[in-house]
Amino acid sequence: MIKKCLFPVAGYGTRFLPATKAMPKEMLPIVNKPLVQYGVEEAVAAGIDSFGFVTGRGKRAIADHFDISYELESQIAGSGKEALLGTIRDLIDNNTFTFTRQNEMKGLGHAILSGRSMIGDQPFAVILADDLCVVEEGEDSVLAQMSKLYNQFRCSIVAIQEVPMDEVHKYGVIAGEEMKEGLFRITDMVEKPPKEKAPTNYAIIGRYILTPDIFEIIESTEPGKNGEVQITDALLTQAKNGCVLAYKFKGRRFDCGSIEGFVEATNYVFENFYQKGKG
Ligand code: UTP
Repeated sequence: MIKKCLFPVAGYGTRFLPATKAMPKEMLPIVNKPLVQYGVEEAVAAGIDSFGFVTGRGKRAIADHFDISYELESQIAGSGKEALLGTIRDLIDNNTFTFTRQNEMKGLGHAILSGRSMIGDQPFAVILADDLCVVEEGEDSVLAQMSKLYNQFRCSIVAIQEVPMDEVHKYGVIAGEEMKEGLFRITDMVEKPPKEKAPTNYAIIGRYILTPDIFEIIESTEPGKNGEVQITDALLTQAKNGCVLAYKFKGRRFDCGSIEGFVEATNYVFENFYQKGKG
């Protein structure tokens, strides 16, 4: 069973400047909850209880968010506002949160490798908090869907989504053999290809389950696209040595790393969760 989840949160979030000048983009709120908390809640719904954050300079607010705020809590104790802290207090009480730093920004693969000591020798999940994933009420969270698949297949799994060909250059793109509906065994992967070079329009989104041998593969992966150590390149090696699956998840994903996706997510969550009292 997957019990640990890594959050690489060292990125600069340049698309949200100036908002992200002094504040991590993962702390941007969708309605009244920061993006990173949605990610943690999704993982908790998949049975995960241990969280490791790979942070960078200027990301202290994330660690503070997952810590008790004595002054604030005693200030509002007994008032109607106490309940507003209920969800985060619950997460703090029932899970562990660990932090490490990625000292140099050398790419997502390198960020994941920087989290190795928090994971150890077991399979783990990775969430990129700027991808917000929502599911219909009563359905498994996206990570829970992937965790179930892991229990069945015992190999690394990436979540994929079909995107317009004009957008493939923003993503890692896979090619694969369909094993059953929506589940592919990966045969090729390309990071941010121009549309002429994209093997398909199946884009990898920010949800992964990785087996721990990935760490050694990343260590011997040369920097790729943009001079960064790409997780896509390491996963392709893993796929060639054994098996990596790509899963077309059930649910909806918002790219909250972009302004348009962020606004869309805000409207969706406000109408579908917040107004209905499910926020
Ligand atoms: P992005 O490509 O979205 O970059 O990284 P970014 O810096 O967060 O945002 P923009 O493009 O400047 O607006 C994808 C994910 O990988 C993490 C980021 O934090 C983000 O969650 N990442 C990327 C790292 O943790 N370290 C890296 O070296 C690179």
